[in-house]
Formats: sequence, C-alpha cells, structure tokens
Amino acid sequence: MGYQQVYDQAWNDPEAFWGQAAQAADWFSPWTQVLDRDASPGGRWFVGATTNVCHNALDRHVAAGRGDQTALIYDSAMTGTVEHYTYADLTEKVAKLAGALAALGVGKGDRVLVYMPMIPEAAMAMLACARLGAVHSVVFGGFAATELKTRIEDAKPKVILSASCGLEPGRTIAYKPLLDAALAMSAHKPARVLVHQRPQLIAPLDPARDTDWAAAVAAADPAPCTPVEATDPLYVLYTSGTTGVPKGVVRDSGGYMVALLWSLKNIYGLTPGEVMFTASDVGWVVGHSYIVYGPLLYGATTVLYEGKPVGTPDAGAFWRIIQQHKVSVLFTAPTAFRAIKRDDPTGALMGDYDLSSFRALFLAGERCDPDTLHWAQDRVKVPVVDHWWQTETGWPVAANCLGLEPKPVKPGSPTTAVPGWKVDVLNSEGQPLPAGEIGALALKLPLPPGALPTLWENDAGFRKSYLTDYPGYYKTGDAGFVDDEGYVFVMSRIDDIINVAGHRLSTGGMEEVLAAHPDVAECAVIGVADDLKGQVPLGLLVLKAGVSRPAAEIEKEAVALVRDKIGPVAAFKTALVVPRLPKTRSGKILRGTMQKIADGQEYKMPATIDDPGALEDISDKLQTVGYAQSGAGAAS
Ligand code: COA
Ligand code: AMP
Repeated sequence: MGYQQVYDQAWNDPEAFWGQAAQAADWFSPWTQVLDRDASPGGRWFVGATTNVCHNALDRHVAAGRGDQTALIYDSAMTGTVEHYTYADLTEKVAKLAGALAALGVGKGDRVLVYMPMIPEAAMAMLACARLGAVHSVVFGGFAATELKTRIEDAKPKVILSASCGLEPGRTIAYKPLLDAALAMSAHKPARVLVHQRPQLIAPLDPARDTDWAAAVAAADPAPCTPVEATDPLYVLYTSGTTGVPKGVVRDSGGYMVALLWSLKNIYGLTPGEVMFTASDVGWVVGHSYIVYGPLLYGATTVLYEGKPVGTPDAGAFWRIIQQHKVSVLFTAPTAFRAIKRDDPTGALMGDYDLSSFRALFLAGERCDPDTLHWAQDRVKVPVVDHWWQTETGWPVAANCLGLEPKPVKPGSPTTAVPGWKVDVLNSEGQPLPAGEIGALALKLPLPPGALPTLWENDAGFRKSYLTDYPGYYKTGDAGFVDDEGYVFVMSRIDDIINVAGHRLSTGGMEEVLAAHPDVAECAVIGVADDLKGQVPLGLLVLKAGVSRPAAEIEKEAVALVRDKIGPVAAFKTALVVPRLPKTRSGKILRGTMQKIADGQEYKMPATIDDPGALEDISDKLQTVGYAQSGAGAAS
C-alpha cells in the first residue's frame, strides 16, 4: 500500500488502523475500546487493555529467540569503552535493578526520577521502572540544580536514580553535588537515592539517604513485569513551556508502544535485528523514543553513544560508529551536522570508513536549514530525512516515510503528515487557511496513539496550553504553512521558545532568572541566529536607577546566573546592558523586532512603538558584539 492509502485509512478509521497496528505488541488482556475519544482531557487509546512496556521491549524478544542478539551497544568516546548487551543480558540486568527498586518500596504508579549521563544504566533505569509499572522522569544532565529541584517537586519521586558523574569534553561533571543541592532546596524529599558509581569519580554517599547501586542490585532478586493498564503513564518528561515552569508531558504505556512499533517500520524503514544509532540524550524525547523504547520494542539494536559529533576525537566520530557497529539508520539533530561540516567541510573523514551498512539519515529537533540538508545529501549518499515532532507528540508528525513510500524531498520541509496526524494551518480565529498561507500549525483531534494524553497532574493546564485556543485541534506552538502537495513547512515558534543546538528552551524562563538579579530593573531575552547551534539566547538588561557598577561586571554576573540556575545547556553567553527596551505604547516589549534586528533582517517599525529611538539604541549595542550586521533597516 502506498502512503496515501495508508494515510487515509489511519485518518478515516483510526480505531481499525491502530487496532491492527497493535497486533505487533504483546498484551496481557485485550482492550474494550481502541480509542475513547471522550475520555478527558485528551482521549485515551487501548482502554481496558493490560500490558507491560518492559516485557515488550525485552522479555518477549528473549522468549521469541532473540536472547543472543545484541540489544544495546554502549559506545563511549569519552572513556574509549564499547560494551554489548544482548537481549538476554539486558533483561537480566533490568530485572535485577527492578528488584532493587522494589526492595526500596517502588511499585506501580510511583514516580522515579532519573538524573544520569549517557551510560547503559540510564536505559536500564528507565526499563526497570517500566517493569514495575513505576513512572520514570528523566532529567537531562545539562540542567542546573534549580531546574532539577523544580522537576523533583512536581513529580514527587519516591526514589531518585543517579550516577556519580557525567563526562563532557575536558571536564568531569559531578552529578551528586548538583543532586544534593536540588534536594536541599526541594520541598519534596525522596525516600532513597540510588547512586551508580563511575570509576572516573566516586561520589560520597550519605548512608541515611543514599544507596550504592551495585550493592543494591547484587542483593536484589529479579522482579517480574507488573501488568499495567495501557492508559497508565510510562513516564513524565518535562519540557520548556512559555514560563520558567516546565510542563510535565505524560506518556501512556499502550498507545506509545504501538506508535513506536509502527514508526520503526514505516517511517524509519528498519527491520528487526538492524542497528539504529540515535545521537541524542536519554534526557530528551528523542532519546526516550529512539535510543531506548523504539528500537528495543522493535527487536532492533540501539547504540547509546556518550560523546559528541566532533572533538571526540574528531568529526569522523559518527562515521566510525556506523562502520564499527554496522549502523543502518542514524538519527541526530541538524546542529550535529553543522558541527561536522564546520570541522570537516568536505566530509573527507567519511572516506576513512566503510559506510556500506548505512541506509538513511534522519534529522529532527530544529528546523533543518537547506544548506545543511544539501551538504548532508551530497556526502552521505543515502536519503536524508528531515522530520518534525515534539516532546508532546512522542513520535514524528511529519516525515518522509521511508518504510511506506519515499517521496521527493523539498528542502526546508519535513515532507507530509505521517499517517495518524492531520496537520492544518489556522488563522487567529482558528479557521483553516488555504495552501501556502502561513499560520499556526495545529493537529486535528483525535491525536494518534503515542501523543500526550495530558500534563502530569494538570489536566487544566493541558487544556489551556494545547486545546483551548483552537477548538477541535491541538496547538503545536509552531507556525508555518502546508503547500498544495501537502508538504509541511515549519517556520518558527509562536511563543517564546527557542531551539539551541536542538534543545528546547524558554526565553521566558531565562528572563525570570535575570529579573532576579538585584541590579536589573527589566530585561528581555531573544533567540539570535547562530551558525552552529541554530539559535542562541541573548539577554538585554535595563538596570535599576542609581546602579553605578560597571555594566561589564553585571553582564558577567547575568551570564553566570543563567548558567547556575538553568544550566550550561542554555548556552547563555551574552548579556548586554541597555538604557531602555523598545516597547509598544501598551508596554509590550518588542522582542520579535529586536530579534530581526539582531539577525540583520529587514524589520517593520511597529506602528504602535512608544519610542523608536530605543530600537536604534538596541541596534547600535548589538553591533558592538557582532550582531545586527547586515545593516537592513526598517521596511517602509
Ligand atoms: N551534562 C552536563 N553538561 C552538559 C551536558 C550534560 N549531559 N550536555 C551538554 N552539557 C554542557 C556542555 O558541556 C556545554 O557546556 P559549556 O558551555 O561549558 O561548553 C553546554 O552544556 C552546551 O552543550 P551543547 O549544546 O552540547 O554544546 P556543545 O558546544 O558542547 O556542542 C554540539 C555543540 C552541536 C556538538 C552539540 O550541541 C551536539 O552534539 N548536538 C547534538 C544535538 C542533540 O543531541 N540534540 C538533542 C535533540 S535531538
Ligand atoms: P522538543 O519538544 O524539544 O522536541 O522540541 C520541539 C520543537 O522543536 C518543535 O515544536 C519545533 O519548534 C522544533 N522542531 C523539531 N523538529 C523540527 C523540524 N524537523 N523542523 C522544524 N522545527 C522542528
């Protein structure tokens, strides 16, 4: 069947389509309803069924004779280690870890927070939670203690799983002091913290609260898989919202499993037994779906890579991994390819490796600029697929479905909607716009399995953030258009979220941090274009009257404050003191206009601007640090 036929089936009769797709998984008891459209707030899939995601990702493959196949390859460029875990090994290790968690009192529905670097124990932690029906919440290692504390307070974990350290080029990141600081600030205290000691740095343990991972696992009995409802949460993953308070995206168990299984075959074109290398981090949704759950559910082999695309040791790192582990599909963010292109402009290092296993490159996490797309296409000589999705959607919304029917590529577009999703472009009244017109990208309800059913303990917040503005639709927060052949073009966000090296961050959250500086009266953070990271944040600060300290000193403190409160991942390196911020007469700060000026784009002087001189001052100031260079001025 071709793409269009499958697409129509999935949209016209989702119950039949996904009910059929669900046959790819094991269920302990069948559903009474494939889709309950009325279940509040966002609809529910496979109602009444029971299953276990860990059983589907591990035990069932062992039972089906895949026990000796490699499930996970840990490749650490940071330590020079490569480890292979078969499905049988991984099942045993996960069952023991689940036993250790059970001994600490973790059971079905309890939350477990995972704060870990890219080591196999991080994947084991997630799967062990799934085995017990506990709900994991993984927090990315590049976040600071305050961000960690916010997530601990919201998820209220019974147990936290962590490691002594992460390894970044040139430095060892001690995780335990960050975790201790977060717990000291947190109103919620977990019962226990299980710490995996890495040889690079041994963390001191507090016997009243901390347990050594290896000792706990050695003493544990393996735990069986606990049956859960298909609608029970598998995990909560926090992502940036429009304020400093992150949103706890809930993922259900059954629907997610079915969607991932379908996607591996039909989008990624993978066959069980093949190798998928997703170069991301388990702290992001890409890591959840395509480092851990997707490949394992499907019976493929996943590569968990601790390292960077460049500098560990060079821009040939991905090619080395493809050769060494016979990778079929590579998935990463465009920023990784921009980094490779910067260090190895001709792609010469590719020539050093045998890439004969390599079949497709998938890119997501940020807009794939046509330059990067062409550079990659010209060199890798396999299909390069830009695909669009979000933490909330859990799996791709628009993609070139290589397993169904590959389509011609249009640079700048992640191709057409994936079966199950209906992408419409809406005007401010929520009316669909004709092909080619730019508006808000919205997904018509019902959403397919795998998409978030709600926010963690916040149904009202879910409705308000996603369902209220456009009745009958889910609001993506992205703006763009769909052309007359159904190709989706994602142009920008309609909120204050920016994308820094494929990492989603809230400028509103950074403004909250800067506003807390004692000398800052008001501030604005904008995302400015960056050749490597796509966008980086830049802060503009107006000081309180009477502050006479040197501006450079305060700018330095502001940079340190964001790193301390949000984390290095924010890549906040530039703060500028300015005399005033440009605003409309009603007091709205003109962030969009400032962003255009910074990027050297032509901009429109807003008719409602209060003080046009403020924009010129900002432009002058931005030029002192290398922005606002093209000289493009206000369009008449
Ligand atoms: N723990 C602690 N710190 C971390 C971290 C982690 N898990 N991950 C990143 N950091 C730190 C980095 O060390 C860096 O710190 P610095 O300011 O002291 O240099 C900062 O956070 C920013 O990290 P990163 O965004 O990785 O930038 P980089 O300059 O180190 O590397 C790229 C740039 C392009 C190579 C890198 O961003 C990359 O590999 N991106 C791939 C895209 C990706 O994984 N996207 C996820 C969604 S698909
Ligand atoms: P995250 O939730 O971190 O995965 O970030 C999701 C956001 O990243 C989306 O809402 C988009 O703004 C952006 N994004 C992800 N993939 C793409 C893509 N292929 N093209 C354009 N933007 C993308």
